[in-house]
Amino acid sequence: MRDVHVGVVGLGNVGQGTLAILAANADQIALKLGFRLKVTAVCSRGVASVNLPDELGHVTRTADWREVVSNPKVDVVAELVGGTGVAREIIDGATAHGKSIVTANKELMALAGAEIWDKAIKSKINLAMEASVAGGIPIHAVLREGISGDRVVALAGILNGTSNYILTEMERRGESFEAMLAEAQALGYAEADPSADVDGYDARSKLAILSALAFGERITPSDIFVEGIRRITAQDFDYAHQLRHTIRLVCGAVQTERGLILSVRPALIPQSTILASVQGAYNAVWVKGHFGADTFYYGRGAGSNPTGVAVVSDLMRVAREIRSGSPERVSPFAHERLGEYKPVPITFQHRPYYLRFRVDDRPGIIAALAGILSAKKIGLEAVLQLPCDTKHDLPFVITVEPSSELAIQEAVAEMSKLTFLREPPLALPMEPPL
Ligand SMILES: NC(=O)c1ccc[n+]([C@@H]2O[C@H](COP(=O)([O-])OP(=O)(O)OC[C@H]3O[C@@H](n4cnc5c(N)ncnc54)[C@H](OP(=O)(O)O)[C@@H]3O)[C@@H](O)[C@H]2O)c1
Repeated sequence: MRDVHVGVVGLGNVGQGTLAILAANADQIALKLGFRLKVTAVCSRGVASVNLPDELGHVTRTADWREVVSNPKVDVVAELVGGTGVAREIIDGATAHGKSIVTANKELMALAGAEIWDKAIKSKINLAMEASVAGGIPIHAVLREGISGDRVVALAGILNGTSNYILTEMERRGESFEAMLAEAQALGYAEADPSADVDGYDARSKLAILSALAFGERITPSDIFVEGIRRITAQDFDYAHQLRHTIRLVCGAVQTERGLILSVRPALIPQSTILASVQGAYNAVWVKGHFGADTFYYGRGAGSNPTGVAVVSDLMRVAREIRSGSPERVSPFAHERLGEYKPVPITFQHRPYYLRFRVDDRPGIIAALAGILSAKKIGLEAVLQLPCDTKHDLPFVITVEPSSELAIQEAVAEMSKLTFLREPPLALPMEPPL
């Protein structure tokens, strides 16, 4: 069968990993496909100084992506640039020229995935985006194929390796958030501006894509409650351990009677659950199906090679579809729009909560806090205080019985006015065992 020709735009971490695998694994790929995947054109603005693997043979180099999407030889364009500007133009340009597309772009697919898929279907091209969520974990294939016969009722994931590295190192070594962020930056895990990772926005894009795939609804980042990990301290881990829990940045999508509750936030999770054992820069996704119950997926969430594998596997799938003449017909973002999984505000969430205070110690503190909880009809469960050297910045924790997020938010707002508090209380939900 005739080769399928690939054009790669973006030759950074993911682009280089993709080309290296296409070069080193070319024979295996050809055996699996029954034809070869040939890299025909590559593009980046600095393409002149990029080293390409010799095994790729002759490849057209260009600094202008338009020359790739309009190249008559190219069958599939891999968009590995990132962001929502030029990447969108590349995808639109490739669609307009009838080229199939593979992308690793979570930001763009979370924001505009539904429109991009609709256009692709109309243009009878194939589109694949496995690498956009949890790099090395083939979670799209799982949701679109592996367990597509089930009806997903909940999913929870650790989808940001940088935050997970910071949290698990804080836990292991008792270090501060700031120290572990600096280390993650030195190791190249975190960007100079770490906001997308530690404030939860990167994970939010990924959750938007995953929950759209899992629930078949049009879900965008603005439907998702987001809170980052900057306020977590090493002491929070000490308290969480006392409660036989740990703390992770949990991406959750849970179907309730009211609708779908979506959040990215630090949460206490029982130490006994599999998610709690996800360490360092690893990612994991747990999915609960109505019929098939629990399944769990684990692997590297990023990196040149794991993400490269996801891109190459997508290229292979799209190439097979091109050769068999089978274009996409149904968008994974909104197949039927049943309305059954409408996103609803986080305030409907019902959980036990962990409330951590830092106070200037004086008599009457517990009574004042308990008074506010009781006025909001929140049942107090336990008070924990570990030994501390100073009375002026004394941490302690109150855990409360299952309560609505709304009641907790209102109680926290009231408590924040109390003059003995050094900072507003930190409220973390305590997730049930998965
Ligand atoms: N890194 C990971 O582990 C990972 C994991 C999963 C998903 N992703 C996603 O994969 C995508 C790429 O990430 P990355 O880490 O590989 O990024 P990166 O290292 O910054 O690479 C981006 C590439 O795009 C090129 N580029 C930028 N603007 C361009 C333009 N106007 N025309 C042509 N080329 C252009 C850059 O080269 P020039 O500056 O020379 O043009 C560079 O080669 C992003 O969507 C990211 O979210 C990354």
